[in-house]
Amino acid sequence: MAKFVGILTSGGDCPGLNAAIRGVGKAALGFYGMQVIGFRDGFRGFMENRTMEFDSEMLSGILTQGGTILGTSRDKPHRMPVGGKIVDVTDVIVDNYHTHHLDVLVCLGGGGTQKNALRLAEKGLNIITLPKTIDNDVLLTDVTFGFDTALSVATEAIDRLHSTAHSHHRIIVVEIMGNKVGWLALGAGIAGGADAILLPEIPYDVESVADAIRARSHRGKRFSLVAVAEGAIAKQEVQALHAAEQKVAKAKSRSAQASAEAELKQLEAQHAGNTMRLAKELEQLTGLESRVTILGYLQRGGTPSAADRLLATRLGTACADLIHKGRYGVMVAARADDTKPVPLEDVARKLKFVPPDHPWVGTARRVGTCMGD
Ligand code: F6P
Repeated sequence: MAKFVGILTSGGDCPGLNAAIRGVGKAALGFYGMQVIGFRDGFRGFMENRTMEFDSEMLSGILTQGGTILGTSRDKPHRMPVGGKIVDVTDVIVDNYHTHHLDVLVCLGGGGTQKNALRLAEKGLNIITLPKTIDNDVLLTDVTFGFDTALSVATEAIDRLHSTAHSHHRIIVVEIMGNKVGWLALGAGIAGGADAILLPEIPYDVESVADAIRARSHRGKRFSLVAVAEGAIAKQEVQALHAAEQKVAKAKSRSAQASAEAELKQLEAQHAGNTMRLAKELEQLTGLESRVTILGYLQRGGTPSAADRLLATRLGTACADLIHKGRYGVMVAARADDTKPVPLEDVARKLKFVPPDHPWVGTARRVGTCMGD
């Protein structure tokens, strides 16, 4: 009997989502003769039963499109804002799964989605996930789709900023996405030849960055490019942030949890202006005029690169193969030229950080890039 496949995209969008939807859909519908139904706007659309029935026509022409034709949201089944309240709608989602007679739900997403998907698998649903995100921070896969495109966008931005920094003898601090992990800033920083690269995983000392910039000035290079990840953190901020995170993790009562969370939120809000503050400090310390460019959502939009289309299509078709075999509770990981199903519980609730001794970090250091430490 034909299998019924549900599919949704959840979390931040990225280039390659449509290629992945097409990969799953074409293989499931055309190759295996399954039926495929899409749910709009992530888990919210699943809860609200907003669907999109797929046929081969709808899967045509979307390979090169950015974003997701299904729409997405960051809503979580166990903490869904509904009518001004936060509600656990897991049971509604489980009911909808059965109402649609699904054999499997395919969830395309990053770290948050892997967690939510595991929760649903623990409720007895058949789940398969695909790793997407420009952050490249999903564990056990070589790479996530979306990363390669964002890497090119950020690298091109650094290239363009170089010429204007050079002409005006300025420091340009370019903020690259990556709140908890710095793969994108590191990759684009190396590829774009940034003079300093600052990552969340390697707390920085602004004096070291200023020293590196001054040393360049002495060599006659009176401009510098600083690639800073969104979540890069100064050494002096680390302790306070870690202490606040520990407080949240160890809170024993609801009120203790609420006050610890409020403290953490306040620190995070202060941190939000980090890039602007850094640019000001560098200007004061080096005497060079500084400017800031925040790349933001540009990195997530637009046409996926060839590498992302290829990866998303490979993962999508491998997902259909797994459905055919009835292999559930897994994420389809990229492994060299192949794919590998990895248990969801090994992936969820974990992040793939940049190890401070990662070969890319060594590469950056050996070409003379200041890592801020
Ligand atoms: O996870 C992808 C990402 O773009 C991160 O790099 C960034 O910190 C975050 O999403 C931004 O989230 P939102 O889309 O909710 O503003």
